[in-house]
Amino acid sequence: MNTFKILTTIHFGDNALDRLKDIPYNRIMIITDPYVKQSGMVDYITKPLESAGKAYTIFSDVVPDAPIDKISEGVKAFLQYRPDAIVAVGGGSAIDSSKSIREFALQIDHYGEVGLIAIPTTSGTGSEVTAFAVVNDTNAKVKYPLVSDSLTADEAILDAELVKSVPPAVTADTGMDVFTHALESYVSTNHNEFSAALAEKSMEICSVFLLRTYYDGNDMHARQKMHVASCLAGLAFNTASLGINHSLAHQLGARFHIPHGRANAMLLPYIIEFNSNINHSSRSQKEYLPAVERYASAAHILGLSSYNPVMGVRSLVNWTQFMMKEMNIPMSISEMKTIDAVQYFDALDEMAENALKDACTATNPRPVTVEEIKHIYAKLW
Ligand SMILES: NC(=O)c1ccc[n+]([C@@H]2O[C@H](COP(=O)([O-])OP(=O)(O)OC[C@H]3O[C@@H](n4cnc5c(N)ncnc54)[C@H](O)[C@@H]3O)[C@@H](O)[C@H]2O)c1
Ligand SMILES: [Zn+2]
Repeated sequence: MNTFKILTTIHFGDNALDRLKDIPYNRIMIITDPYVKQSGMVDYITKPLESAGKAYTIFSDVVPDAPIDKISEGVKAFLQYRPDAIVAVGGGSAIDSSKSIREFALQIDHYGEVGLIAIPTTSGTGSEVTAFAVVNDTNAKVKYPLVSDSLTADEAILDAELVKSVPPAVTADTGMDVFTHALESYVSTNHNEFSAALAEKSMEICSVFLLRTYYDGNDMHARQKMHVASCLAGLAFNTASLGINHSLAHQLGARFHIPHGRANAMLLPYIIEFNSNINHSSRSQKEYLPAVERYASAAHILGLSSYNPVMGVRSLVNWTQFMMKEMNIPMSISEMKTIDAVQYFDALDEMAENALKDACTATNPRPVTVEEIKHIYAKLW
């Protein structure tokens, strides 16, 4: 039996933030990152709360990639304030931190049900609708995706006004994260008709609107479309899960602090090639792995023409590389010039072992070994 459910109510479109006046909560803990507070963007949240007479406090100590020590600070602040809801405002890091803070705090003191309203300020992770929260164990240098329905936000508010200020490099990284979610869920061994429909629409939007948001951050039509695409891709992978692109990216983030979407983008061409496993014998027999047809179908959705599945995979790889070049995303780790070669190659064994154990590996369309993961990491250099 298969089940498809959406646990989060989604408010979107013009003035979506007005929903904050009507939320059924009165004591709110806003969890956000320092940028959102210092830039004044948090006013978009506090004004409607104030006008509805709701009490609130702001915890703005979130840092990228949700490290465990910051989560425990948030748990302390939560248990002191005892909110009846969290309003999480920010990128995936703020939303994931909020999910973990609520989860861990209520395990310590379950004083009542606490709502979670997620308001993304990047168009990337889809965390506002997923049961995933990625936490970063900075001591062990490992990022873990926690997966549980209890992490899921009750409501999501998609207001593209909040994304206008995202700088081009972050627009590029997070936009490629959206595409990776859609594509990985599309080829996942757990894909189904519901996840495929959501992923297809998300990929179609990426193909038309991602570059527009990169070239002009004030193109509000494109920003709105990408904000929805991010949420659609989140819904898709929430039911179909992801694959080794994310498993490998999590380790690059934990170990070398490569932004999540950037790590995904850099890996994409290698993972598509690995999962397709097109070689002399499959070519001559014309017998391909099931992922090949699905990648070819993704290429078709992107509007790429190809006259057979192999060409479809090729054009998909070319498209990802074209997008990276257009948006100035490095094509290899060495091109980044920030990571030492010796440190990188010394870390490969551990990164490969951790990536194999990552929750996303289970649904990859092609089984993978530690050696094969190491090989992919080595090619990425
Ligand atoms: N829970 C999930 O389902 C899920 C899925 C994918 C990734 N993730 C996790 O999410 C995290 C990445 O999230 P992200 O890519 O959204 O980045 P992020 O939240 O780390 O933010 C990246 C940077 O952009 C800045 N920023 C955010 N919004 C901005 C705005 N409107 N204007 C200007 N600057 C802004 C932030 O301050 C930060 O410096 C990673 O830890 C990743 O592992 C979670
Ligand atoms: Zn991701």
